[in-house]
Amino acid sequence: MRQSLLFPAAVVAPLLLPSTLAADPSNKRGLVYVPSQEHPTDDNIWVRPGSDLSWYYNYGASPSAAFLQHPEMEFVPMLWGAKDGDTGTEFYDTVKGLIDSGKNISYVLAFNEPDGDPSTGGSQIPADLAASTWIREIEPLKKLGVKLCAPAVTGSPNGFVWLQNFFTECAGRCSATCMPVHWYGNFEGLTSHIGQKMAAYPNCTIWVTEYADANNDLQSTQRFYNQSAEWFDRMENITHYSYFGSFRSDVSNVGPNAAMLDSKGQLTDIGSWYLGGDATGNIPTAGAAGKSVVASGLLGLLAVVLSVWTVL
Ligand SMILES: *[C@@H]1O[C@H](CO)[C@@H](O)[C@H](O)[C@H]1NC(C)=O
Ligand SMILES: *[C@@H]1O[C@H](CO)[C@@H](O)[C@H](O)[C@H]1NC(C)=O
Ligand SMILES: *[C@@H]1O[C@H](CO)[C@@H](O)[C@H](O)[C@H]1NC(C)=O
Ligand SMILES: *[C@@H]1O[C@H](CO)[C@@H](O)[C@H](O)[C@H]1NC(C)=O
Repeated sequence: MRQSLLFPAAVVAPLLLPSTLAADPSNKRGLVYVPSQEHPTDDNIWVRPGSDLSWYYNYGASPSAAFLQHPEMEFVPMLWGAKDGDTGTEFYDTVKGLIDSGKNISYVLAFNEPDGDPSTGGSQIPADLAASTWIREIEPLKKLGVKLCAPAVTGSPNGFVWLQNFFTECAGRCSATCMPVHWYGNFEGLTSHIGQKMAAYPNCTIWVTEYADANNDLQSTQRFYNQSAEWFDRMENITHYSYFGSFRSDVSNVGPNAAMLDSKGQLTDIGSWYLGGDATGNIPTAGAAGKSVVASGLLGLLAVVLSVWTVL
């Protein structure tokens, strides 16, 4: 549990607007972000005036306190995992509560890497349990006008098998209209993987909800970033993307060069480009060995714990 952090208006005063932020946003661009416990002021970076970001998710069902004052960042709730024997509708109730309180909830995400092992951040959910949980917690949201995104499997071939099993178990009762993609690797692999997903699920738009060229040198990582952003913006059926890198380079679990913040919390080139600004020249550096293992799923678990607060 964590107190809501509402920042004073001065923090985001227009006077602080960096002149380098471009005016022309890609409205596809969003943020996968778990509020920083160690460096709470890092939260402000993503909502600076002029930022290109238009949506976010935090692996949890409730909005992040740091972004409550920023309706321009549309929150996308996620049901992270599923528990055997659970018959409740906590996720449904939470999302309905948000809608009833006036929040614009257009989409929900379901299940973080259900085909993945917990040691690498997966939620490891059997397809039948995921399907029954979906039918109870997710599917009814459709009646409230919410669009439902399919489970966010890993980028491995297993992901396709898991999804196929999931939809078989659903037997027509899971109406996903968007298909998340997770990808850690090079650009050619990314485009081929997304091509495969589009072919397998032609009725779904694509959401790239975690991606980076993990553990590569800085120049390759930046080239990957440039190529993928340009491609996503051009591809009509890729409607949302969120780069995996909204943390400091010294705690990155995908290599320091992928991070959008350097070890001091300043935007790296990629971080600044992502927000619509110019290169900063800030070089991401690695932390002390052994300090940096924060897998995405663990972040997710943390988020679930941290995002349990009452939304005003
Ligand atoms: C709610 O979000 C959707 C999708 O992001 C957007 O198209 C719509 O304009 C938003 N509605 C309001 C009232 O902000
Ligand atoms: C795609 O949508 C069409 C028209 O609504 C439907 O007939 C078809 O079964 C859908 N295909 C899949 C794979 O869901
Ligand atoms: C985009 O999706 C529509 C259906 O939603 C499909 O008809 C079209 O072929 C897709 N375009 C590409 C480039 O895949
Ligand atoms: C990436 O794009 C920026 C401009 O947006 C450019 O300055 C930079 O040289 C590019 N880097 C690579 C490695 O392509």
